[in-house]
Order: sequence, then C-alpha cells, then structure tokens
Amino acid sequence: MISEKYADEIKGIMARFPSKKSAVLPLMYLAQHEHGYMSQAAMQEVAELLDLDPTHILSLAGFYTMFYEEPVGKFVLEICNDLACCLRSGEDFLAMARQKLDVDAKGNSKDGLFSIKPVMCLAACDNAPMLQCNLKYYENLDEAKFDELIAQLRERADSDGGDLHVIQKIAAYAKSLDGAA
Ligand code: FES
Repeated sequence: MISEKYADEIKGIMARFPSKKSAVLPLMYLAQHEHGYMSQAAMQEVAELLDLDPTHILSLAGFYTMFYEEPVGKFVLEICNDLACCLRSGEDFLAMARQKLDVDAKGNSKDGLFSIKPVMCLAACDNAPMLQCNLKYYENLDEAKFDELIAQLRERADSDGGDLHVIQKIAAYAKSLDGAA
C-alpha cells in the first residue's frame, strides 16, 4: 500500500496543493512506480487516498500517455502514427518495427525488453518518421537507424548500471518536475 510505504512523501505532495484532489497526477506516478504499472489496485489506492471515484483515475490513466494500464517492457517505443509521419512512410516503419521485434498483440516483445505503442503526433513532424523511447526522441528514422537503436538499447539493457526501466524513468522525471515547482 503506498499509503503506508510512502506516508511522508504523500503528505508532502498533498501539502503542495490547495485541494488534495489536485495531487492526483503525482500520486498516480507514485502508485505506478510502486505497482510497476497503473494496475486496478494502483488506481483504487489513489482513488481512496483522494476520495475520488476510481473511474476518474481510469480516465486520467487513459488520457496521459505516461501511464500504462498493462505491464510494459523496459523500453517503450512510442512510434508516431499520425499524418505527417505516415506521409513519410510512418505506417511501414511501424509495421517493420513490430515485425523486427516480433511483438505480441499487446505490442510486447517475448524477452520483455521492448513494448511498441503507436501514438498520435509528438510534435516532431518536420523530422518524420520518429519515435519516443523512454522520454527521448529519435527522428528521421529508417530501417538502418532502427536496427542501430535496438542494438544500442539491447547493449544498454545488459550493461551494469544501464538504463532505467521506463516506469522508473517516468517516476524520476515526475519527481524532478515536483522539485522544480
Ligand atoms: S505526425 Fe509524427 S510527429 Fe507529428
């Protein structure tokens, strides 16, 4: 339960807002980090802490792309599937990526390392096709660049002190925003 494990942190988060309901996003990041994804249990915990209906948390989790309602791989490749990217072979690029990583119907690779998620415009249309992986943009992509990226990510996944899992990375990012506020 995050209410017990992170009692002081939660108190600090809530103290920053005039209404405790306004603390919903920081608490959702905390719950996602603790549960590994935005599970039903995680949503329920946040709803109870803030006296909100769980469907409200569900709607936020569905709206914001940095919440995952199912487990994801260490690296999430959010591949833009919107107009400008598709005009520059974005659909073919997405299909190629899915095929190369041999992902299942939910977009997860069998080794648990990668997840592919098609997304709407990420505002880098002039450098289409593009993707975002664990909060970093990769632009002007083609098959050779994709192969190179995947090889680098595999290497980084294997190395000691390598990249954080996307859920940890998002939690750290959310915390840095809190600190900046
Ligand atoms: S359409 Fe792909 S970044 Fe805008």
